[in-house]
Amino acid sequence: MDKFVIEGGISLSGTVEISGSKNAALPIITACLLAPGEYRLYNIPQLKDVRTIAHLMRVIGAKIDFQDHTMRVDTTHADFPEAPYELVKTMRASIYVLGPLLARFGKARVSLPGGCAWGPRPVDLHLKGMEKLGAEVELEGGYINAKAKKLKGNYIYLDVSSVGATGNIMMAAVLAEGTTVIENAAEEPEIVNLGEFLIQMGAQIQGLGTKTVTINGVKELHPVDFTVIPDRIEAATFLVAGLITGGELMISGCEPRHMKEVLSKLTDAGGQLKIENDVIHIRSTGHIRPTDVTTQVYPGFPTDMQAQWTALMAVAEGGSVVTDTIYPDRFTHVPELRRLGADVERKGNAVFIRGKKRLKGAPVMSTDLRASASLVLAALVAEGVSDIHRVYHIDRGYERIEEKLRKLGARIERVDDGKLY
Ligand code: UD1
Repeated sequence: MDKFVIEGGISLSGTVEISGSKNAALPIITACLLAPGEYRLYNIPQLKDVRTIAHLMRVIGAKIDFQDHTMRVDTTHADFPEAPYELVKTMRASIYVLGPLLARFGKARVSLPGGCAWGPRPVDLHLKGMEKLGAEVELEGGYINAKAKKLKGNYIYLDVSSVGATGNIMMAAVLAEGTTVIENAAEEPEIVNLGEFLIQMGAQIQGLGTKTVTINGVKELHPVDFTVIPDRIEAATFLVAGLITGGELMISGCEPRHMKEVLSKLTDAGGQLKIENDVIHIRSTGHIRPTDVTTQVYPGFPTDMQAQWTALMAVAEGGSVVTDTIYPDRFTHVPELRRLGADVERKGNAVFIRGKKRLKGAPVMSTDLRASASLVLAALVAEGVSDIHRVYHIDRGYERIEEKLRKLGARIERVDDGKLY
């Protein structure tokens, strides 16, 4: 199993190129099931989660060719409407095949995603959405069995503005009979990007990027070529890397309009930012000001940056509070950050942080994707050497992070620690 060995204390400098968005790519790949044929998807990140969804698509019968950042998807013979437990258990986003399979084949059998390290993360809104569209949904033996002769448009109010449920319902509704209105829909850029892909395929969708998305079902869709948006979480993580190490970075190939809240918080925290088109330049003033954040749905501060922000605040010049309203249990990084010397204490859905001048290298363990990113950031400023175990978590969502960091001057190596688990 791979670990990262990081020698901290080096200010990063240089340019880093941002990859395509994982959370946009995943539903866009499954949306290819909605119309048989050949698609070419550009700016797809080379990530473990993307390879998992590609594997799942192959199980369903699609042909996938994935070179560099271009994925060719051929769904001409994709007709096995099932997502097995072995794949779904490794990645919750596999649930994104439910809507397309149901819309195209009138049936789907998809393993229920389990819980995860930070709370139960239910899929009830996905299932209620499918039922509202006229599907019969049954849970049996750990599987969701859904069927519908013909899906019919309906008014669907989401109790929680869920990214996944909005995407799944949109994908089911595009081929339904009549009009679907999703109220309290997710406004995240990844959902907008999925919607734009569906519109190019021939779908009729209004209100993308607002709380009310209206979909007029069409009889059929057609394959297209499409470019996925840049990953705003990867970009934000590198911005924090620049600030936390007291460095100066150019974050290139990103979409600053998707990152307004994070950019504003980075300025509050002492970063000097300059934005030109798709490049963000960050320079540290040598001071990290304590800055509270509370995660919110988009355009608020993203929960996917909560752990990285906690790492930044661990070396701020004073105390701060980081609160997660989206996932109140998403704090597995807290005890690991403490191993690096951070003074952080969790109370309910918040962490109270007393910033310290120094962290100290230590062996720590990745527990999930963003938690791992926070440990890498903390290790980059910690004195001495840190070993970060189980980096397979970080490989799910950051493309070649160690190579990108090395190019910026970081001392980071990937090493096989000889452990099987
Ligand atoms: C997506 C992102 C994830 C991000 C999250 C929130 C992908 C692949 N993953 O996850 O990186 O952290 O959005 O921005 O895009 N909920 C329910 N019932 C449901 C579904 C969700 O109660 O059926 C709740 C969740 O428990 C959570 C909130 O809704 O409290 C938001 O979750 P959701 O937006 O659905 O997250 P995901 O789509 O799983």
